[in-house]
Amino acid sequence: MSVHVNERRDTFYLSGGSSSYVLHQDAQGRLMNLYWGPSVADDSLLFRPEDYQPGASFDLPVSLLPLELPTCGAGWYGTPAVGVRNAWGDDMLALTVRSFEIFSGKKPLPGLPATYTESDAEADSIVFVLEDAFACITVTATFTVFNDSGAVTRSLRILNSGKAPVRLTSVLSASVPLWGGKGMDLIHLKGAWARERAVIRTPAGEGEYRISSARGASGHEENPFLALCDRSTDEFSGNIWSLSLVYSGSFAASCRVDSAGHPRLNIGMNPETFSWLLDSGESFQSPEAVMVFSDTGLNGMSAIYHRLYRTRLARGRWRDAVRPVLINNWEGTYFDFTEERLLSIAEKASGIGIELFVLDDGWFGRRDSDNCSLGDWTVNLKKLPSGLKGLAEKINALGLRFGLWFEPEMVSPDSDLYREHPDWCLHIPGRPRTQGRNQLILDLSRREVQDYIISSVSTVLSSAHIEYVKWDMNRNMSEAFSSALPSERKMETQHRYMLGLYRVLDQITSAFPQILFESCSGGGGRFDPGMLFYMPQTWTSDDTDALERLRLQYGTSMVYPVSAMGAHVSAVPNHQTGRSVSMRMRGEVAMAGNFGFELDLASLSEAELAEAASLVSRVKSIRSLTFSGSFHRLLSPFEGGDTAWMFVSDDRTDVLVFAYRTLVSPNMPPLRLRLAGLKKDAWYADEEGKRFHGSALMNQGITIQLRGSFLSQVIRLTAVSP
Ligand code: DGJ
Repeated sequence: MSVHVNERRDTFYLSGGSSSYVLHQDAQGRLMNLYWGPSVADDSLLFRPEDYQPGASFDLPVSLLPLELPTCGAGWYGTPAVGVRNAWGDDMLALTVRSFEIFSGKKPLPGLPATYTESDAEADSIVFVLEDAFACITVTATFTVFNDSGAVTRSLRILNSGKAPVRLTSVLSASVPLWGGKGMDLIHLKGAWARERAVIRTPAGEGEYRISSARGASGHEENPFLALCDRSTDEFSGNIWSLSLVYSGSFAASCRVDSAGHPRLNIGMNPETFSWLLDSGESFQSPEAVMVFSDTGLNGMSAIYHRLYRTRLARGRWRDAVRPVLINNWEGTYFDFTEERLLSIAEKASGIGIELFVLDDGWFGRRDSDNCSLGDWTVNLKKLPSGLKGLAEKINALGLRFGLWFEPEMVSPDSDLYREHPDWCLHIPGRPRTQGRNQLILDLSRREVQDYIISSVSTVLSSAHIEYVKWDMNRNMSEAFSSALPSERKMETQHRYMLGLYRVLDQITSAFPQILFESCSGGGGRFDPGMLFYMPQTWTSDDTDALERLRLQYGTSMVYPVSAMGAHVSAVPNHQTGRSVSMRMRGEVAMAGNFGFELDLASLSEAELAEAASLVSRVKSIRSLTFSGSFHRLLSPFEGGDTAWMFVSDDRTDVLVFAYRTLVSPNMPPLRLRLAGLKKDAWYADEEGKRFHGSALMNQGITIQLRGSFLSQVIRLTAVSP
């Protein structure tokens, strides 16, 4: 059991991997967070209230306690984990533990994405039932600890057991008090469209630092992830505490340093866009937070997320299968294609060993630009006279699988769907409807809208041999209110939308288990754990420039496994930056992801095609390692002109090192990379048979000569007998 209860049955040790998360129920029944960090022995910790109270203080005692579920009213001044406005108009909530239950394994969260176990031996769970009998609120707090990694998940279910309605104003999936605070840094992933998930590291100051999305999507700008680390922590060593939210909608995460100097990390619903009415007997289920501690630096933290999210968040037939090398026509043709043009690209693709042809936007309705037809999911026979079925057959006959793009959550004002159901979009009656990319968002909080999407997408998927779907979403919410909800529930729209979206995704992905689904939102605008539960990969960014991709893939890898990242070789000059980089470097960046091409192969010279073919055959020879090997970041593109990362197989016999130079300076010494994750007592050989000792590779390093700008090199090392 990795959940241990002491003899007094008031202290609970959730231990796994090399960490412990310790909870305590104090004499008054309040749930405290006693500790989170490197493993401690069971029964080794004591809760002593005096540890938290200075000799003399102006503060009320409760404000300094390490509450696991802080609530308002009795002198707590931070964000409440559960905030309510009750029938009397006050926000007082005093939760005490009524009971707890421990069991092996992990239960699913109804209607929401969550990590899971495949056998009960993988994790243990503890469920606390807390209650405020006066306010008639019951909170069921569920914690799971994964045995191998020590990752802890937490979610809350809040029940109104009274007669009068109660309004939920704040729900934090995780809210963790930590000790100390001086000399610590915060890390999060910030960006914009085409510049997603840049690593931001900033000193944790004395106040509150907050990141959030109010967009109705996790968004390009922030990612539902926040970490706190010691200032000395780097990629390879040091302590880091991190939170990740398994959710795809608006969220907020913060770090608040209290008057005693102790930081508290929070993540959960964004109160700016969320409040929820709980009628008598109703309950609200929070999304799940995943909490990961590592004392082996950022790479240690990422390794835990990668394995957990690749194997116990992603699901389905494609979870463990290496992904096909694909060609996507978007940057190759945009909307300007005919069946003939697509087939000419597919023929070239087949000739160089590509395995999947993806038809992107523009195949339906009258869509020759982005100003119409979203919602009308019927094939445009003018462009594709053989229909999708005929086109898929022709593509299949070339030896390629066929995949298709959709943007099912949207509606164009110029569409039959909108003309028939003008009230099906998010809007405020009587006010203008703000368009983004000439489109409006369907109101997925409505059952009939969900059902329309399920049925129209399913009809297309059943109409042809479709083996891959790119599920796109190209704008964020405005007027984010459902006209179907009463005024007192309007603020529930965003979360109800997410629940509707998750229902749609669940139904479609379950009905078509053979299809590989890739999620997308103007590139990586919804690259989050919630989407990964339904679709095992995400289009990383609309920026396909190889140099930019180094930053994108490096930042994304903080939390997300390489198996989740779509990465394509596109044309030069690059369409987003105008930069020209060699095909070799474009390829060697993309092969550290789910590899594909996104250009008009028919316009390449024979020499370029031959180079593309050799990239494809190299990808096929390394992809099982890049897909499931452990990934180590070595050199950060956010800190200099060079980037490096590497992959190591589980048995540590197969190794791939990727090094990239963006800009050269004169008189630069060769790059020396200290490798990670190898067997320190084994010999390795490169492809030319040159031998290296594991201890030397990890301590002295391997030397790489990159003479010039925009260069890359890949080194494969294999363990050999001494
Ligand atoms: C945004 C996506 O990120 C692109 O890859 C492409 O699919 C376009 N949408 C199509 O409209």
